[in-house]
Amino acid sequence: MRKILFFVQFVLMSTIILAIESSCDETSAAIVHNGKILNNIIATQSVHEAYGGVVPELASRAHQSNIVPVVSQALASANIDKSQLSAVAFTQGPGLLGALLVGNSFAKFMAMGLGIPLIGVNHMKAHILAHFIEDPKPEFPFLCLTVSGGHTQIVLVRDHLVMEVIGETQDDAVGEAFDKAAKLMGLPYPGGPLIDRYAQQGNPNAFEFPRTEMPDLNFSFSGIKTAFLYFLRDATAKDPDFVANNMADICASYQSALISTLMRKLEKAAKQMHIRHVAIAGGVSANSGLRKAMEDVATRHQWKVYVPKFEYCTDNAAMVAITAHYMYEKEMFCGFDASPLPRMKI
Ligand code: KG4
Ligand code: ZN
Repeated sequence: MRKILFFVQFVLMSTIILAIESSCDETSAAIVHNGKILNNIIATQSVHEAYGGVVPELASRAHQSNIVPVVSQALASANIDKSQLSAVAFTQGPGLLGALLVGNSFAKFMAMGLGIPLIGVNHMKAHILAHFIEDPKPEFPFLCLTVSGGHTQIVLVRDHLVMEVIGETQDDAVGEAFDKAAKLMGLPYPGGPLIDRYAQQGNPNAFEFPRTEMPDLNFSFSGIKTAFLYFLRDATAKDPDFVANNMADICASYQSALISTLMRKLEKAAKQMHIRHVAIAGGVSANSGLRKAMEDVATRHQWKVYVPKFEYCTDNAAMVAITAHYMYEKEMFCGFDASPLPRMKI
């Protein structure tokens, strides 16, 4: 009898959340049990490779075909029946409307059917909270440089759910600057990881690219993107094989210009805020040059730096699940009439 009571108590106390991510081109589902991530299933959409960027309509259609198998796999591999779920979480925004809508509708109907709470998660907060999936976890307050295909922000993180953007790009995101340059060189989407790979063999001082210095803690990447376009146009006019013959040096020089812009602002922010705990997050935080720059600056300034595991850099549902775990503790639920918010702010 006592054993049964304990079991009932344990089951009642245990919080199991299913989280869904569908903001861009990855359909992902994860299960979190009392703050511990049990899995992180990701279906990547290769359909966009041929187009040099994410095609919103195709992303939405791919999410529709992927969502049921991805969620089923997450439940099955964690050995969880949907009747055991305490809540369903989904990425509410920011992201592509049609893509967000798929995760939003699926989560909504699942939570409604099961009679459990629904949690609408902010994708950018989730990128930052990916640092709380495993140890070592950052100490508050810390600064996070959040760099993805759609965002470039410096965020002051005061607590799990209390964050403030203190600087951000005024035009393109740094991930976009990577992807557009790659496209100009004939590389497939997403070009960021390919530029990273070529850059590892190249000389970062081979070519010079202008760096736009914005006031305060803001960024601008549209200038360097245009400069890159003209640089390639002029160089290939003189030598049609210029890109093929100089790929590693071009990638290393361009990447180095982007990283030094990011690091200068991050150093400025840390100095201004008197904070030495600094993290990076988002897809571009997978970049080996940026990860190395973070290590270097940590040594130089005695910062404590936090660099996410590769699997938690790009879009994934584990980061949505860990965010939902903190939101569940505070009963931050949304109504069943919640709609996607493509421009949702931190
Ligand atoms: O966070 P994320 O998966 O999706 C968005 O929320 O945007 O970030 C995707 C971005 C793409 O621009 C991709 O090229 C970039 O992250 N990325 C990288 C690397 N891995 C992913 N950029 C540079 N180096 C990498 N290793
Ligand atoms: Zn993202």
